[in-house]
Amino acid sequence: MSSNLVFHSAFVDAAWRSRIKSQRPCVLWFTGLSGTGKSTIANALEQALAERGKHTYLLDGDNLRLGLCRDLGFSDVDRQENIRRVAEVARLFIDAGIMVITAFISPFQHDREVARALIGEDSFIEVFIDTPLEECERRDPKGLYRKARAGLIANFTGIGSAYEPPLNPQIHLRTLEHDLPTLVQVLLDYLMLEEFLS
Ligand code: ADX
Repeated sequence: MSSNLVFHSAFVDAAWRSRIKSQRPCVLWFTGLSGTGKSTIANALEQALAERGKHTYLLDGDNLRLGLCRDLGFSDVDRQENIRRVAEVARLFIDAGIMVITAFISPFQHDREVARALIGEDSFIEVFIDTPLEECERRDPKGLYRKARAGLIANFTGIGSAYEPPLNPQIHLRTLEHDLPTLVQVLLDYLMLEEFLS
């Protein structure tokens, strides 16, 4: 990284952009095993926010790994870099006044803390999408658990690589106990309570 760089401040700042949009930006940072329902819940939440006139953007693991993060694999170091890039992108969206939802396994506590520090405590909402490993494995929507058990995928989260559950998430969604509309309502209630929605 060059040290001969200077950050340029823009005249139109984050507060102005936020005012124009009449919304308070935030990042809903979803974390959980593969197959927990992160993308499904994120999509349903995004739809609910859009119906309330909110400008949102969904950053999804599989999609980013096809583009911005296509050079990264699933070693601990690559996952760390993946999460760092996502956090940097989310930070730009926050600056733009957007309500962001991220859906990444983001298995390591330390990497999520780095994301929280980058994005800022006030804007970062950690959402634990909690589905037991056995249930994710039973669902196995992409057939990846089966492959991992057969030794065809190294470092698969929950099998060959650890998942560290959040210690103190802002929102803890137990997917086996509630249906999708209820889970979305829990998220909306939180956003109202914290005055991201009125
Ligand atoms: S993260 O660990 O870096 O946060 P990310 O959410 O981007 O992961 O990508 C996870 C998706 O990649 C999974 O839903 C699955 O489809 C796919 N995948 C492929 N290999 C692995 C692996 N070894 N571990 C976990 N997910 C994998």
